[in-house]
Amino acid sequence: MDERLVSSEAESEESYLEQSLRPQTLKQYIGQDKVKENLEVFIEAAKMRSETLDHVLLYGPPGLGKTTLATIIANEMGVNIRTTAGPAIERPGDLAAILTALEPGDVLFIDEIHRLHRSIEEVLYPAMEDFCLDIVIGKGSTARSVRLDLPPFTLVGATTRVGLLTAPLRDRFGVLSRLEYYTEIQLADIVERTAEILEIGIDPEGALEIARRSRGTPRIANRLLRRVRDFAQVQGRQAITNELAVEALERLQVDRLGLDHIDHKLLLGIIEKFRGGPVGVDTISATIGEESHTIEDVYEPYLLQIGFLQRTPRGRIVTDLVYKHFQMEIPHDD
Ligand SMILES: Nc1ncnc2c1ncn2[C@@H]1O[C@H](COP(=O)(O)OP(=O)(O)O)[C@@H](O)[C@H]1O
Ligand SMILES: [Mg+2]
Repeated sequence: MDERLVSSEAESEESYLEQSLRPQTLKQYIGQDKVKENLEVFIEAAKMRSETLDHVLLYGPPGLGKTTLATIIANEMGVNIRTTAGPAIERPGDLAAILTALEPGDVLFIDEIHRLHRSIEEVLYPAMEDFCLDIVIGKGSTARSVRLDLPPFTLVGATTRVGLLTAPLRDRFGVLSRLEYYTEIQLADIVERTAEILEIGIDPEGALEIARRSRGTPRIANRLLRRVRDFAQVQGRQAITNELAVEALERLQVDRLGLDHIDHKLLLGIIEKFRGGPVGVDTISATIGEESHTIEDVYEPYLLQIGFLQRTPRGRIVTDLVYKHFQMEIPHDD
């Protein structure tokens, strides 16, 4: 799959860049008010009682600020963060090594936690519940289980696929926070904040234009800002105006709702070949030459979110909004 400008996953060299843009405190973290308010209370209460914070599960689509929030939780608690990811923990011993190296109060951040092996999850249960570790020493008939105490810690898990988490794992989190897509205004604030850090001049109307095309996702907003800045520089402009943002984003083929050529191909394919649907995802896949699971996991979520596509038992249907967006006549049922 080629890299899309509007992909919500981080590009290869992007994660390093993102570090410098990450807000460090809850106050700097824009939007997600409900999540923030809850965390504020839990953090304050934990600090008052000199206890560790309950385990926190952050879930929601890529690029909405889960990793950022994990870092902020550690900052606000005044503790260290140790970061790993589900697929990186291959054996129970790997997790045991991480857990025994924690300092009291530390945050252990496990990204993509839905990808943990079952056998590793089982090590995690007593660790989360009682801060202890059951390890088996020896083999065969001489094997015996030993219980090791761990320092108290806070597990922060992040996932884009909360439905894939097993119930026993999910139930062991005290705080479950779902991150939502951001509004245009919030994204414009994020764009302005990033512009300030990167010392890019931008008008409020320019920021709003980038926000509008960012698919509700800060990662995309920050990426589009960087690309628009390139245009501004090449044209010798001091600041990104609305006009410049529109021109640059049109040239980058990101339309006024943040749809790109792949979205267009998908939507127009359903309209032109299947009269708007319903059509099964496998049929769409064969028609536009993209894998079914890529369509479901990567292309569809945003189109469903903005009400351009509907999933029905008989397949996908494009809604009237799509015809309006492409300035096409809405077909009548007959
Ligand atoms: N609420 C926010 N306020 C400001 N910037 C944000 C916010 N959420 C995310 N970002 C920015 O978006 C980028 C992606 O966020 P990240 O935490 O890596 O997302 P996720 O882990 O959910 O994929 C980061 O560079 C971060 O600076
Ligand atoms: Mg992340």
